[in-house]
Amino acid sequence: MKLRRILKWMTRAVLVGLILAFLVGFVAYWRSTNECDRNTAAPINPMKAIRFCEYGSPDVVKLDDVEKPVPTDDQVLIKVRAASLNALDAYLIRDSWLGRDVAGQVEAVGKNVTQFKPGDEVFGICRGALAEYACAFERALVTKPSNVSFEQAASVPLAGLTALQGLREGKIQPGQKVLINGATGGVGTFAVQIAKSFGAEVTAVCSTRNVDLVQSIGADHIIDYTKEDFTKSDQRYDVIFDNVANHSFFERRRVLTPKGICVLAGMGGAGVKQGQAIGRIASNLFLAQGLSSFTGQKFAQYMTKLNKPDLILLGELMQAGKVRPVIERTYPLNDAPKAFRQLDAGHARGKLVITV
Ligand SMILES: NC(=O)c1ccc[n+]([C@@H]2O[C@H](COP(=O)([O-])OP(=O)(O)OC[C@H]3O[C@@H](n4cnc5c(N)ncnc54)[C@H](OP(=O)(O)O)[C@@H]3O)[C@@H](O)[C@H]2O)c1
Repeated sequence: MKLRRILKWMTRAVLVGLILAFLVGFVAYWRSTNECDRNTAAPINPMKAIRFCEYGSPDVVKLDDVEKPVPTDDQVLIKVRAASLNALDAYLIRDSWLGRDVAGQVEAVGKNVTQFKPGDEVFGICRGALAEYACAFERALVTKPSNVSFEQAASVPLAGLTALQGLREGKIQPGQKVLINGATGGVGTFAVQIAKSFGAEVTAVCSTRNVDLVQSIGADHIIDYTKEDFTKSDQRYDVIFDNVANHSFFERRRVLTPKGICVLAGMGGAGVKQGQAIGRIASNLFLAQGLSSFTGQKFAQYMTKLNKPDLILLGELMQAGKVRPVIERTYPLNDAPKAFRQLDAGHARGKLVITV
């Protein structure tokens, strides 16, 4: 049994090595090209969109005239009302079509689309949300609850799904003690509220300036990481949901119950630099996951999946007032470069939203 787990772990380690090598090559490719220069023809049916023309700092983000997208048979064309930024947008993938999280009104639908019609208010995941219009697959969209604003709806998809699926990965149960490390970012603010909605007793780890914030979203206990190291306390947790991964396997293991699960959601916010992030990923994958094969405690890593029932559940939690998106600031589309600079600094409180 143990041997099979070790083999599984070694296979996964090799796969991750290959993925990391691919990412390094991918980044090198983006550093060497300028996407905007490659498409110089003036758009026939223009719209405004935010683009990364070349790999670099948030200063290379610019508002550009681009071709308005046309939905395929399975897609919905959305008049974007709001979009939100994720750590993903800021570090690993500098995509020429920025923005994944979207909320807006349906403008037109492809011929195979059955669930939406023009005028419907929706939210979900697409490619190129930082624009006046965006296309999304029908399976990636759900109806926006009427008591939720476009800004609130746009702040949910990727961060809300990451929090929900990660807590499920931790097999969260009512009454369990759950610790959220990195509780005040995009993912963390959803994780605190979703864990509370599952009936857990939640401890939030945050910096001094965010103590009031985590209190306001329902955390039962708060640890200020600038004053106290949660891995040195006598408290044990059934689930650790870790957005930061800034502690070793042994430190986190010390504060897990004997059958506890540590879910490795991320390696810090957008402010964490590339080398540091890769170090944290490697230490989690090669050490934490591997070493946990020899213990009753589990270190689990996962990738967020687009899942329509989960998006519907997040909509219902918002409609019922159990989850209230935390939005630090909204920026108009032409100020998106400022929003990226704030995201890159790595200490946003909840989500940064772009209104269109
Ligand atoms: N697994 C997946 O598929 C998946 C999907 C989406 C995102 N993610 C990952 O999840 C992570 C979090 O994303 P996010 O959008 O929430 O990022 P974010 O909004 O930038 O938040 C980062 C959080 O980390 C906190 N933090 C920084 N240093 C800390 C420390 N030493 N101790 C405790 N907290 C600290 C920040 O709080 P302060 O401001 O108080 O320092 C902030 O709350 C990222 O690494 C992202 O890549 C993973």
